[in-house]
Amino acid sequence: MVAVKIDGKAFAEAVRRDVAAHVERLQSDHSITPGLAVVLVGEDPASEVYVRNKGKQTRECGMASFEHKLEATTSEAQLLDLVTSLNADPDVHGILVQLPLPAHIDSDKVLNAIDPAKDVDGFHVSNVGLLATGQKAMVPCTPLGCLMLLRHHHGKLDGLNAVVLGRSNIVGKPMAQLLLRDNCTVTIAHSRSRDLENIVRSADIVIAAVGRPEIVTGAWIKSGATVIDVGINRVERDGRKRLVGDVHFDTAAEVAAAITPVPGGVGPMTIACLLANTLMACCRALG
Ligand code: GUN
Repeated sequence: MVAVKIDGKAFAEAVRRDVAAHVERLQSDHSITPGLAVVLVGEDPASEVYVRNKGKQTRECGMASFEHKLEATTSEAQLLDLVTSLNADPDVHGILVQLPLPAHIDSDKVLNAIDPAKDVDGFHVSNVGLLATGQKAMVPCTPLGCLMLLRHHHGKLDGLNAVVLGRSNIVGKPMAQLLLRDNCTVTIAHSRSRDLENIVRSADIVIAAVGRPEIVTGAWIKSGATVIDVGINRVERDGRKRLVGDVHFDTAAEVAAAITPVPGGVGPMTIACLLANTLMACCRALG
């Protein structure tokens, strides 16, 4: 292996420590405790794990955690009523509705019902528009975490060729906007792109967020590139259950200059950025 392994776990711990120090100061100077409400509808096992971890880490950094677990049969109107009451609750500074929602609920309608000032996921169309036009926005947590790791390892990203694999609203599109804002030349590639391999080979920075286990191999990576792997895929190998990314780590690490592992790379940064966004929402509410 030639690549430096980017330690997202350690970086996320440092972000959380910083958030906790700010939370302590808010409490001592203003008697205010930032609060994050997380809403889970249904019983998707992966979502339950994420929501449990979010609650635990929120409390660990001194914030208030409000968890709302609703039955899978909850109607869209009931969910919208809950969002309306959280919007009006002065103890709640951030609201996150865990995705995916059950098929009978219109996700866009629910996400756009969240007060944009409390939209710590950055999924409300107002925040999406603010980010796209270079204005002050609430930025989605996973792309924000990727950007922090990139800036830490690279310094300035000016003029670099960045390829974002994946075009989701949660990662791909906001990631491309953030890289553009940092003066990269950005390509978004996806499952229908022709000659994916050659597109990726042109990249100084590769962000893999397609949800296809180990699709990006070392043969696709330009020598000296930085590789950020957003994929979290549960696979069975040799009779054992394992977590792998969208990048084949061992072959990519032979050619890349730096690479995030799975687990321990981007994953821990997502919750750390969620806590940072909640702190920011609370500070903005203070004026
Ligand atoms: N499901 C997977 N990732 C996310 C995320 O970042 N936010 C929300 N709300 N749901 C998700």
